[in-house]
Amino acid sequence: MKALVLSGGSGTRLRPLTHTMAKQLVPVANKPVIVHCLEAVREIGVTDVGVVVGAHGDEIAELLGSGRSLGVDLRFIRQEAPLGLAHCVITAAEFLGDDDFVMLLGDNVFAGGLVSEAERFRRERPDALIVTKKVEDPRNFGVALTDAEGAVLSLVEKPRDPVSDLAVTGAYFFTPAIHRATEDLSPSGRGELEITDAIARMVDDGLRVVASDYTDYWADTGTVRDLLDCNRVLLGRAATGVAGDVGADTEVSGRVLVEPGARVRGSRLHGPVAIASGSVVEDSDVGPDVTVGPGSRVSNTSVSDTILLEGASVSGIGRIHASVVGRRARITVGRGTVGRLTVGDDTIVEVSS
Ligand code: DAU
Repeated sequence: MKALVLSGGSGTRLRPLTHTMAKQLVPVANKPVIVHCLEAVREIGVTDVGVVVGAHGDEIAELLGSGRSLGVDLRFIRQEAPLGLAHCVITAAEFLGDDDFVMLLGDNVFAGGLVSEAERFRRERPDALIVTKKVEDPRNFGVALTDAEGAVLSLVEKPRDPVSDLAVTGAYFFTPAIHRATEDLSPSGRGELEITDAIARMVDDGLRVVASDYTDYWADTGTVRDLLDCNRVLLGRAATGVAGDVGADTEVSGRVLVEPGARVRGSRLHGPVAIASGSVVEDSDVGPDVTVGPGSRVSNTSVSDTILLEGASVSGIGRIHASVVGRRARITVGRGTVGRLTVGDDTIVEVSS
């Protein structure tokens, strides 16, 4: 079995971060989302992995390299434009050949991995197996209708009036029968060749498509809210340990990870918290649910439920909560009585009144 990890697309809902970086590289629990994906792939024993990339392809390839450090062998496949998930399968057809494959959306996180779903696919070998999850509002997802045994009866992409509460997640197991189903698809209302339409065609052609209900935490990290939610869940399960330089004047409680090369002074760390190498925390309250990225700085600030990306800095600003601070962004207190902002395109700043 091979794997296809989709890492193109535009990431408009995560602007401004995605003006300059791929959404799959945004870190949760201090690890890019796509790395969580590749770990799930390796865990099911698949090492031959195609990564579909678009405009940010070079940055993704630079970060992941050959994949050896993650125990996988990567091939990068360039998609000329984000024309849809089924278009990704068409683009990767040569790489996929006649093999079965698992397709993962590079912005999805499956906190409990996909081992039992992979086992079921290998054991039963239906023509396709999709991983589904009950959600409160399925209108932003593909939606499946299944019978009592979990056989898929119908599928619709982002329906206005969903026929069920079963969302299609970003994990699909396919036999080569999918290739036939991607032929001659028409673009959907959003102008994309939808994988949902291709799978619906398999169902219409009488092929066996089954749904496996995911019982652990799943996230599509498409929005800031989803990212923070996912960060919270993964931090709550992440490894802990203080290997960095934490002064005796700092109080540490709960699940805390301080990587070697990080320095903490005069602060309180209330886990879950992860502080990456090269960062500095001083005179601050950090946590719960905070990741401090490599080389970032927190000083004289109380931070909770927040992701600081690489090289970000917050200093002397009282309290921040539910925030994502981009790479090398600086937030500080000015000397005058008025605020001064240099804010990039599509940035959101909510100042406390
Ligand atoms: O997250 C689950 C949902 O993902 C499913 O419920 C939907 O049925 C499925 O269509 C998909 O919907 P999204 O609108 O969330 O897909 P998005 O455009 O965010 O793309 C998902 C991933 O695939 C993301 O990592 C970007 C990548 N991608 C996307 C497109 C459209 C590509 O690599 N190429 C593309 O052309």
